[in-house]
Amino acid sequence: MYISNIGTLWQLADAHAGRLAGPAMASGIIPVRNAWLRVDGDRIAAIGSMDDFVPGTEEVFDARGASVFPTFCDSHTHIIYAGSREGEFLDKIAGLSYEEIARRGGGILNSADRLHQASDNELLADALGRAQLMMSRGTGAFEVKSGYGLNTADELKMLRVAARLAQEVDADVKITFLGAHAVGREFTGRQADYVDMLIADMLPAVAAEGLAEFVDVFCDEGFFTPDETSRILEAAARYGMRPKIHANELACSGGVQVGVAHNALSVDHLERMGTDEIELLKTSSTIATMLPGASFFSNLPYAPARKAIDAGLAVALASDYNPGSSPSGDMRMVWALGCIKMRLLPVEALAACTLNGAAAMDLAATNGGIAPGRKASLIISPVNINYIPYAYTEPWISKVMLRGRFV
Ligand code: NIG
Ligand code: FE
Repeated sequence: MYISNIGTLWQLADAHAGRLAGPAMASGIIPVRNAWLRVDGDRIAAIGSMDDFVPGTEEVFDARGASVFPTFCDSHTHIIYAGSREGEFLDKIAGLSYEEIARRGGGILNSADRLHQASDNELLADALGRAQLMMSRGTGAFEVKSGYGLNTADELKMLRVAARLAQEVDADVKITFLGAHAVGREFTGRQADYVDMLIADMLPAVAAEGLAEFVDVFCDEGFFTPDETSRILEAAARYGMRPKIHANELACSGGVQVGVAHNALSVDHLERMGTDEIELLKTSSTIATMLPGASFFSNLPYAPARKAIDAGLAVALASDYNPGSSPSGDMRMVWALGCIKMRLLPVEALAACTLNGAAAMDLAATNGGIAPGRKASLIISPVNINYIPYAYTEPWISKVMLRGRFV
């Protein structure tokens, strides 16, 4: 089929780009005026100018002058969880920090208790609901983590639900094992034993079923140390699992350093990142993934995205959709926060939410950009792309196409 009368098509300047870094974040996605786009199966087949449009007998969708740009690639979510945590929301309003709530037995352990009680089908139904909402708001690929199991059986339960979720949705899904999200209740006060168990039991069980492509560790103050992280990443590498880690949310924790040392696909959060970390990331291929929705909801500083891009890094933005620190998977909001709070240009933030997000999931060969041969996962909007993060609560998405089909 064809999409005709596209007012502005936001196309990749280099069809084969695997990421956009530094100044290329502003120049790597270019506006093509008055265009058509042909979809064949799940792919973009061709792009051309309306001046020479010959559709033949194929079906045509008239975009009536709309903007067309790629769907969002949300490279960091925790959307498999049971229940919600609005009780802690009240504690937060009363002034407790994320760490204080966690120390009182709330936080991740609270979600682990609820997940333990929930059936696979309940978990899947809830996660599917969240995924549908994300897709309706323009997300075409996302990553999902385990990490509310915290014992072998429940981590496997989460990951099997993730595998079913990936089968059922129209979006492309990548799965990450995050057994080291917190120390499970049975190991309270015995963090070292928990890490030993994770390496000896959890990892081999996850690998035996091929349930996760990536491995994550919450490497931060009060959670896992760089040494523990290093041991886990080393063990996971033996199963071919590439790291994408939580780092520097709560402190300059050494997380970026350990991530880079283990060739992480991405280091995520980075609210507390200094010049040393930026300089180190410049020497690596690790994507700097920032989560402004978590800063917004948890009243944390925003990660230094502007500084990182000015230094030449490839920055990705993701939602961190989870019940504790970011109960939203709306990438429109992430895009807007990238502009409003991090001072990215709309097109830079779009690059961060699309191709660079795809890169942070090892999907950049096929997702995250408009060019022939790539996935036909597109957003159609009646307004221009500067207006979208500006009028940040207006429902501007008129249509979403995922893998060649309107949803
Ligand atoms: O990315 N920081 C660690 N993990 C999540 C929060 C998870 C939770 O509170 O349930 C995050 O913010
Ligand atoms: Fe997270």
